[in-house]
Amino acid sequence: MTRKEPALRLQQIVKTFPGVRALDGVDFEVLPGEVHALLGENGAGKSTLMKVLAGMYQPNEGQIYIAGEEVTMTTPLDAKNQGVVLIHQELSLVPEMTAAENIYLGELPRKSFGRVDWKTLHARCDEILSRLKCRFSSDTVVAGLSIANQQMVEIARALTVDARVVIFDEPTASLTDAEKVVLFDIINDLKAQGVGIVYISHRMDEIFTLSDRITVLRDGSYRGTLVTAETDEDEVTRLMIGRSLDLSRNIKTPELGDVVLEVRGLSCAPSFSDVSFALRAGEVVGFYGLVGAGRTELAETLFGLRRPDGGTILIDGAEVATTSPQDAIARGISLVPENRKEQGLVLTMNCRDNMTLPQVGDLTAGPFVSSGAEIAIFDQYRDRLAIKTPSWRQLVGYLSGGNQQKIVIGKWLSMQPRVLIVDEPTRGIDVGSKAEIHNLLRELAAQGYAVIVISSEMPEVLHVSDRIIAMYHGKITREFSAAEVSEDALVQAISGLGNGTAA
Ligand SMILES: Nc1ncnc2c1ncn2[C@@H]1O[C@H](COP(=O)(O)OP(=O)(O)OP(=O)(O)O)[C@@H](O)[C@H]1O
Ligand SMILES: [Mg+2]
Repeated sequence: MTRKEPALRLQQIVKTFPGVRALDGVDFEVLPGEVHALLGENGAGKSTLMKVLAGMYQPNEGQIYIAGEEVTMTTPLDAKNQGVVLIHQELSLVPEMTAAENIYLGELPRKSFGRVDWKTLHARCDEILSRLKCRFSSDTVVAGLSIANQQMVEIARALTVDARVVIFDEPTASLTDAEKVVLFDIINDLKAQGVGIVYISHRMDEIFTLSDRITVLRDGSYRGTLVTAETDEDEVTRLMIGRSLDLSRNIKTPELGDVVLEVRGLSCAPSFSDVSFALRAGEVVGFYGLVGAGRTELAETLFGLRRPDGGTILIDGAEVATTSPQDAIARGISLVPENRKEQGLVLTMNCRDNMTLPQVGDLTAGPFVSSGAEIAIFDQYRDRLAIKTPSWRQLVGYLSGGNQQKIVIGKWLSMQPRVLIVDEPTRGIDVGSKAEIHNLLRELAAQGYAVIVISSEMPEVLHVSDRIIAMYHGKITREFSAAEVSEDALVQAISGLGNGTAA
């Protein structure tokens, strides 16, 4: 086989930020019609490398070649003109504008006298959206779309370009399984047309299903490129984090304490109905189900973000009405929400202040916030969660996506709530840190806290939970103890087929 000219090649790329050497001489190439996965821990430099490729960052050193020609790309438009399109990890849409306006941002089709040709615009956009099997029309304002649909708009934008290389930076983090299937079809279509694809994800299953080759970065350095068919997860993980992963649970299940939280016949139409369960101090209960099963809405109801329309919530045996998050926090219930945009990070504030924000009241010594105590809390969780930042002074907006997520988790863990609810806690988190977060959750339980983990990842639920509650269409279908659960039974329970009682 003659080797194809790479669609794109990066050579010895160096990129530094104040206090951070984000890329330290990285080589990377994409062949036409290849899916090339880029892997590495949170903060390894993946997004930075792709932003160099897409003309958003200027490298300090190194060369970029497109179809064999050396190029300089000083703006995203340069990159686009060269046929390089980046679909961002953090959504970059203008929320006040419609899907169509976002898809053709800056390049709206025009009639004579410069007037926008709305008819053509919407016809083109509706066609792309239907190719993506989207069920909303292109004149929908983006702010009104779900995160998954916003992601689809980002993808639609990329499809308007005659692309040579399309980069997907963690595209599936907020997609449902059905939407993922559509995305993978699109990727395979692009591939068949000879487009080179860069695919970034922390989900090994996706990497191994989709990619032809895998390049691994570690701490800004190039660690190697492997042919997917000739390697396995263990080898890739070792390249990525320098060791194999120990997935055994190393924290024992403690004696269970009293019931802390009890829910009886709780309903909140149309999301869920007649939900009953009890949670004891010292246990981790996993809520497993498909996206849309009602788990997030249940969590939001417990946290006072939604009003139930039936049923009761009891804390320590006494009925309570949590009408606001402040109220819930005061009663010892905390929620780490699934959507990063709602997690209350202030991007223009530093790491320490973001982490200790909810506790400022407690740490106040007289009129002053005790800075030492705050830094101590930050240091503790930085070490435990392996948060990558040059110092606590760094603004959160400059951290990598996964490290921002870790700050949020640290923030809620450090409050040591009695009941901690985490919704998709490890989305966008690398495999090594994932294991550490699971251990932290188990450790919290061992200290007597009660933990609810909502997750759509079966291995995660199986790994952390003492008990698993399966939900389907807003109802609890089955409950399993960790000892009795099996993958098959779980799959049945979340598809409404549990116990032979087909829905
Ligand atoms: N604009 C910036 N200013 C300062 N530091 C930055 C900036 N962008 C990235 N960094 C730093 O560069 C390093 C690499 O970040 P990058 O976003 O490329 O990581 P990543 O591999 O994409 O991680 P993740 O899996 O968490 O998304 C990190 O230490 C990050 O904090
Ligand atoms: Mg990233």
